[in-house]
Parts: sequence; C-alpha cells; structure tokens
Amino acid sequence: MDDQAPPVDAVDVDVLLDPADWATEMADVTRRGLQEDPPWVPPLWFYDDEGSALFDEITRLPEYYPTRAEAAILAARAGEIAERTGVDTLVELGSGTSEKTRLLLEALELTHFVPFDCSEGILRESASTIAREHPGLAVHAVVGDFHRHLPDIPRKGRRLLAFLGSTIGNLDPGQRQRFLAGVEAGLDDDEWLLLGTDLAKDPARLVAAYDDAAGVTAAFNRNALTVMNRELGADFDADAFHHVAHWDPAGSRIEMRLVAEADQVVDVAALDVEVHIPADGWLRTEISTKFEPESVCAELAGAGLVAEAQWTDPDGDFLVTLARPVG
Ligand code: SAH
Ligand code: TRP
Repeated sequence: MDDQAPPVDAVDVDVLLDPADWATEMADVTRRGLQEDPPWVPPLWFYDDEGSALFDEITRLPEYYPTRAEAAILAARAGEIAERTGVDTLVELGSGTSEKTRLLLEALELTHFVPFDCSEGILRESASTIAREHPGLAVHAVVGDFHRHLPDIPRKGRRLLAFLGSTIGNLDPGQRQRFLAGVEAGLDDDEWLLLGTDLAKDPARLVAAYDDAAGVTAAFNRNALTVMNRELGADFDADAFHHVAHWDPAGSRIEMRLVAEADQVVDVAALDVEVHIPADGWLRTEISTKFEPESVCAELAGAGLVAEAQWTDPDGDFLVTLARPVG
C-alpha cells in the first residue's frame, strides 16, 4: 500500500455560476414564462437531486429509446470519431451522469475531460466517478450555463465538444441558433462538435417515450412543481395536475405539459406572480424537438458549422452528427 497516494477522486471544479445570479436568472425567466398564454416554465426546475435520479430512470425505460439508440451509435462509431478528430480533450455540455460518454472516453486517447453542467451535485459526483475509473485522465468539471459560459470553457488541448442526449432539442429555434453560433465562435478550425439529435418518427412512439406506462416521466414532470414550491415559495398542488406528452406536428416537437384537473390559482411568492390556469389548461415545462438529418445540417450551416459525418442506429431512430467550423 502506498499511503502517499493522492485522493483518487481529486477533480478540479470551476464554478462559473454564482448561485445567487443563477437563482435570479431562473426566477426572471420563470416570471416571464408564467405570464404568457399558455404559461410555461424553463426545464431547469426538473433537475434537482430527485429529478436527476428520475431522469436517470427515464433513460432506462423500455419506451425511452433515445439513450439506447445514441449509445449504440457511439459504441459503433467511437473508433471512427477518434480517428477523424484526433483530439486530446473532450468537453461535454449538459453532461449529467456522463453515462454514454464512457464509450467515447474508452476510444479517444484523451489527456483531459471537461464535463460541464448547471447541476453542481450530479456534476461533482459523476466527475469523481470518472476520475476514479480513468486514473491517467485529468478531469476538470465546470459548473456553468451553456447559454452564457461557452466562451469561458477552459482550453486544455485540441477539443471535441459533445452535446448529447438531444438536449439541443429542448431549446427553441432561436436558442438553438444562438447556442450553435456560440459553439462555432469558441471552436478553433481544427476542433469539433459531436451533436446528438432525436429524429422525427411515428408520433405514437414519440408520445410513449415521453409518457411511459410506469409513470416515471409523469413523476419527473410533476417534480418541477415540487421544486418550484420549495425554491420559489409557490403553492402548486402537484396532485391537481396530470402529465401529458403532446405531439405538435407543426413545430416537430413533443411538448411536456402539466394539465390542470380543475381551475387553479397559484401564488408564486418569490416572483410576486399569481398564475391562473383554467380546468384543462396547462403549464408547458419542456419541448423536445425532433429533427431530420437535413434539418440538423441546415441549423449547423446557419451557424458556420459543417457536418462531416452523420450516423444513425440500425433502426434509424437517432442521429449523431460530427461537425466542424467551416473555417
Ligand atoms: N447528457 C446526458 C444528460 C441529458 S439531461 C444524457 O445524454 O443523458 C440534460 C442535462 O443538461 C442535465 O444534466 C441538466 O442539468 C443540463 N442542463 C440543462 N440546462 C443547462 C444549461 N443551461 N447549462 C448547463 N447545463 C444544463
Ligand atoms: N433531451 C431529452 C429529450 O428531449 C430530455 C428528456 C428526456 C426529457 N425525457 C424527458 C425532458 C422527459 C423532459 C421530460 O428527450
């Protein structure tokens, strides 16, 4: 035994998000959303510890194919991604548990891994687990907001920026465009973006993926109300709302809704806002956009990025795109 060994889970953590600023920002966006018709809230309320655990459960549900499909693509293509990019640093935006990222860590010969997420708890936990599993890898976690802090991501070596899980589909078109432009602005000409996107398909399968038989997604959705009650002094009666996954063909997106069983008047103390939701009215908590391979290329091109390769799983359910700056 070497009692001089450093702690195996030593991880550098940069905190770019000042908790007070972040709370103000979440409050401001939520106040704006609650005053629109129909009212909406940002998905940020999902991911407290309870919500992160429920999301983890969602990724293993029989109906929720995207995680398995994306993992299959990464497993099949990790070697090719390593060869094409030759990067030494992997940055993962919205990394969560970094579960699928392990497939990349094994294939890429990396010196640095930079997981980036706004949820500090889950980030610290997964970063130390990965550091333990990969003793030669420097793990540098960043607590940040990918809408604001892309310019502040540490530059360690030549980078591949991964944005997996179709998290980009949770942004509206304007946010996606600004996000991709920010990615392009931060990448050198020899750096890369690896983007995971869910594909449009039979609406029945999409609705089932976001409204599973076991009710895990319903619990995940309603948890946002519990979090707002706690963090914003709101008085949502979570049991008075039911979960609906609504397919919007015009927007090519699933909308996660919480539909009021009866008239609701909700006081959100910290925002000084009262929200009226009539019976059968709803609160939108999330959008999940579904893409075509061509629409992904077009959005990338709009931000000065070009797709070098696109891969789907054998069933054609999910798409992973490797892109780089046009230069
Ligand atoms: N990449 C994982 C997790 C996806 S869930 C997967 O593919 O399974 C989305 C993740 O993005 C959550 O961990 C959430 O905390 C994070 N996230 C959401 N909005 C964010 C933001 N604005 N900035 C940084 N991380 C964000
Ligand atoms: N990016 C994931 C998606 O759009 C996030 C997600 C999965 C999700 N399941 C969810 C968001 C359920 C809200 C509710 O598929």
